[in-house]
Amino acid sequence: MGLVDRFGRVHDDLRISVTDRCNLRCSYCMPVEPVWYPHEHLLHYEEIAQLVRLFARQGIRKLRVTGGEPLVRRDLPLLIGMLRGIDGIEDFSLTTNGILLGRFAADLAAAGLSRVNVSLDTLDHERFRRITRRDRLDDVLAGLDAAVRFGLSPVKVNAVLLRGENEDELETLVEHSRERGWELRLIEYMPLENDGSWRPERVVRGDELRRRISRRWPIEPDPDGDPHAPATRWRFTDGRGRIGFIDSISDPFCSSCSRLRLTCDGILRACLYDDVECDLKTPLRNGAGEEELLRRIRDTVERKGQGGALQILEQRHVRPQSRTMHQIGG
Ligand code: 5AD
Ligand code: SF4
Repeated sequence: MGLVDRFGRVHDDLRISVTDRCNLRCSYCMPVEPVWYPHEHLLHYEEIAQLVRLFARQGIRKLRVTGGEPLVRRDLPLLIGMLRGIDGIEDFSLTTNGILLGRFAADLAAAGLSRVNVSLDTLDHERFRRITRRDRLDDVLAGLDAAVRFGLSPVKVNAVLLRGENEDELETLVEHSRERGWELRLIEYMPLENDGSWRPERVVRGDELRRRISRRWPIEPDPDGDPHAPATRWRFTDGRGRIGFIDSISDPFCSSCSRLRLTCDGILRACLYDDVECDLKTPLRNGAGEEELLRRIRDTVERKGQGGALQILEQRHVRPQSRTMHQIGG
């Protein structure tokens, strides 16, 4: 049993995008002029819950709600409440840009969410505006405070450092995270269709970041880290917290990938990078039974390729894809 693919990878992690819309426009994530899916294409909350119950019976243990920005979808705490307590789910988290967390953290915690990942690449107002094309840094910081206050912890902060843009903020981000009790996760810039700006030279590699960090704060691999997680966890030897690295380019983790992705319009995707997809919404709306849905899910897992990231790195350029990051949810 379980969702095992041709390469023996067990899929126990489902990421659900609830909207492609966002209140920011991060250049590394969005095209300059995004086109949104019409509302009627979105899965309803009850449909999402129905699919999650089915997935959980197939061995999904980790659930992450993403976007776009998930908190721009109306009444998100309602969905959280519907997904909490589904049998088999052990880890239940949300990836958000944090802008609306000040307003929703209490409701999310009360609804049963365990923790959040907040995307934040800079602590400088001017830069924040340049990277995200919006002036909302103070809202994000207030959102992070609320997440800590309402116990959505460990609060993780995702940062993408871009060569020549915000790479010099590493130390500031590390220092700030340690003071605030956030667990920083540094993600290498990945080649997805966005504003077309990905170049291998713009990626700041994890090993370079680790070298720079250890000059000021010695770190060591965390023995409690999960070997299957994409982030490798390190800890500060002074005992003040942990830090994660997602070396998606210099050390792709395709060979231990355990993830599936459900897009907001009800498509199951096997990989961020390859376009192996399957429509679950249409059969669901046409009243398909569990057998039929399961057959589609298993077929998608079976068609999953060995590693989209590896292929791209060999070709050293971005292949056109049917969806950008904000439509898949990271
Ligand atoms: N490369 C790396 N990370 C990205 N994200 C969005 N686009 C990219 C990219 N091209 C990250 C965001 C967010 C998460 C959902 O994905 O920073 O934290
Ligand atoms: Fe929005 Fe997140 Fe994409 Fe930024 S990275 S544009 S916050 S979905």
